[in-house]
Amino acid sequence: KVGAHAEQVGWEDHQIGKARVSFGSKNKRREGDEYEFVFETDMVEFVKGSMGSGIKRDDQFDDDDDMEIKSNQLFELRAKTAMEKLQEERRALPMYKMRQEFLKDVKEHQIVIIVGQTGSGKTTQIPQFLHEAGYTKGGKKIGCTQPRRVAAMSVAARVSQEMGVKLGHEVGYSIRFEDCTSEKTVVKYMTDGMLLREFLVEPDLASYSVLMVDEAHERTLSTDILFGLVKDIARFRPDLKLLISSATLDAEKFSAYFDSAPIFIVPGKLHDVDVFYTKAPEADYLDAAIVSTLQIHVTEPPGDILVFLTGQEEIETMNEILKHRTRGLGTKIAELIICPIYANLPSELQAKIFEPTPEGARKVVLATNIAETSLTIDGIKYVIDPGYCKMKSYNPRSGMESLQVTPISKASAIQRAGRSGRTGPGKCYRLYTEDNFKNELDDSTIPEIQRTNLANVVLTLKSLGINDLLHFDFMDPPPAEALIKALELLFALGALNSVGELTKIGRQMAEFPVDPMLSKAIVASDKYKCSEEVLSIAAMLSTGNSIFHRPKDKQVYADNAKQNFHIGNVGDHIALLNVYNTWKETNYSTQWCYENYIQVRSMKRARDIRDQLERLLERVEIELTSNPVDLEAIKKAITSGYFPHSARLEKNGAYRTVKNPQTVHIHPSSGMAQVLPRWVLYHELVLTTKEYIRQVSELKPEWLVEIAPHYYQLKDVEDSVSKKIPRGEGRAP
Ligand code: CDP
Ligand code: MG
Repeated sequence: KVGAHAEQVGWEDHQIGKARVSFGSKNKRREGDEYEFVFETDMVEFVKGSMGSGIKRDDQFDDDDDMEIKSNQLFELRAKTAMEKLQEERRALPMYKMRQEFLKDVKEHQIVIIVGQTGSGKTTQIPQFLHEAGYTKGGKKIGCTQPRRVAAMSVAARVSQEMGVKLGHEVGYSIRFEDCTSEKTVVKYMTDGMLLREFLVEPDLASYSVLMVDEAHERTLSTDILFGLVKDIARFRPDLKLLISSATLDAEKFSAYFDSAPIFIVPGKLHDVDVFYTKAPEADYLDAAIVSTLQIHVTEPPGDILVFLTGQEEIETMNEILKHRTRGLGTKIAELIICPIYANLPSELQAKIFEPTPEGARKVVLATNIAETSLTIDGIKYVIDPGYCKMKSYNPRSGMESLQVTPISKASAIQRAGRSGRTGPGKCYRLYTEDNFKNELDDSTIPEIQRTNLANVVLTLKSLGINDLLHFDFMDPPPAEALIKALELLFALGALNSVGELTKIGRQMAEFPVDPMLSKAIVASDKYKCSEEVLSIAAMLSTGNSIFHRPKDKQVYADNAKQNFHIGNVGDHIALLNVYNTWKETNYSTQWCYENYIQVRSMKRARDIRDQLERLLERVEIELTSNPVDLEAIKKAITSGYFPHSARLEKNGAYRTVKNPQTVHIHPSSGMAQVLPRWVLYHELVLTTKEYIRQVSELKPEWLVEIAPHYYQLKDVEDSVSKKIPRGEGRAP
């Protein structure tokens, strides 16, 4: 795109002040030649440069045709215009217009509730306003919590751009196992769970001048606990400002809870949204979503599409099918750019959804619930809402937790539809009937605290010295039964003593940002002298992603490769350890991962997590010990944490859990699915098409009575043990 002699210009480094430009061959260049650079961005039309002092050779570049431009003029121009554009966008946000009023309210009140449409600029603007107004003087921080990791990361990235600083410097984020902040950081976005953990290190949060509990309407477990904790510290820290912001109109409830705090409303109207329903219920909503996407693409005027799906797997399936079908249509249709977004999507791919859609093309964003309120994607005109989300549910009676695809609430459906009418009139296609919407959907979603396992939170609260949980200031209290269940589990794990006080083991466990069962396994590895191995397994279990890659066209190869890690039917836990150790032996080779159908990204994450767990192990003064050949020791350490998750083989390959009996099945992806040992230990129970247990290893039932004599009695494991152990032995006196 450059004048006479040059052939192409490519920006390779987006850092302001440095760009790599390639020209034609060297001998065509002459000192003093004039070039006209046409920058292919929408910010700068063109600028002039010349082969004079402005352009210098850079010896670092080994490619002869590459040059570095050091003309300051050139780059200042680019930087300023990019910045100007961002500032223009900022000024257009409803929140921006309310700046003065907002700052006045915050000045006058310690606690303010903020309500505003999604996309009005609450999350990105408020911390900046406060920073600009001097709330970060003296190095104090403004903290802003998000229920979702992806939101914390992407919002921090956006705000760092708006402020013209490098991400991780003045503006940073902190999510579990990933801290992108520094000494300099004054505006800190983080998951609500991370702020909860910060209380452990800094109980009065003295380094913060402002705390903004954002997306409060999501009512995640951590957010609900934070409500109680921040309300409490606000009482003895009058200098601390507390902001509670939410997208929906739950403001009255928040205000009432926070001692009648004033409500600040961000004005902003939504454009009209036409809502369409299906005539009859859809048997397969994924298929219906695919068909609807293509229909919109072919028949509707320009505008991007947002599809709400329940999880990564569904998103990837739809991605594949859409790619396949549009490829089949070739040039008969306009380009369809498919952008998936879900919690575990690598951050470099997340940025893609915010890129403007090129002219003539259409973007379709395949998202989880994350796009409902936490993320705003400009340009969406069409929303496809199948009406489902993945929701955690918990039965305190049986102690069973599951993640199930569940119909959404009316409030969610309305919020989803609204995503199409942000910048102009929109359309929402509900893949369910109007009758279904009116009569079958609940009005709003039940707060997570009332449908989840509380063991983790109870352990955190106990380590904060909050002992009387029944009288904790909950906005909506959890069922007493669930609290008791959590206390019982922590007692069984040895984290609490019989009067409910934290034990030394409990204190050690609380240091690890993982579930109590897993932290117990880590702590117990000390006893079995295999902490190195258990750390690796714990890290592999915590990646949140699958380790094994199983491409559709290479399933047989992938399965064979996987089998290598399972030799001797060692069980899924040891198989994970084998994967990790073999990868480590290859010096963390990417090539090795490809050859063995292992997800490189998951492995890198596991390595990262492992490093952090190892540092925490040091902090709780547990030594690194290794015992790679004694698989029984490793499995016993795991059992020390997971003994409540034991099951016994029944007929037809089904299993029955030992405590709180329930029929379950080994997930087909498990190496144990064909082996069917008589006794198994499992990592988790998920309810999909069936009750599946995942990450399964064989268990010797006598371990249960040996490791958890307070939890299992001989009669629980008797049918097989009785033959081996003479009666009376092993039984509690
Ligand atoms: O928090 P709220 O929903 O009120 O809005 P926000 O997250 O502050 O977003 C305000 C605007 O910033 C959005 O409309 C987007 O245009 C932009 N934004 C963005 O481009 N990239 C992000 N990662 C976040 C926001
Ligand atoms: Mg927001």
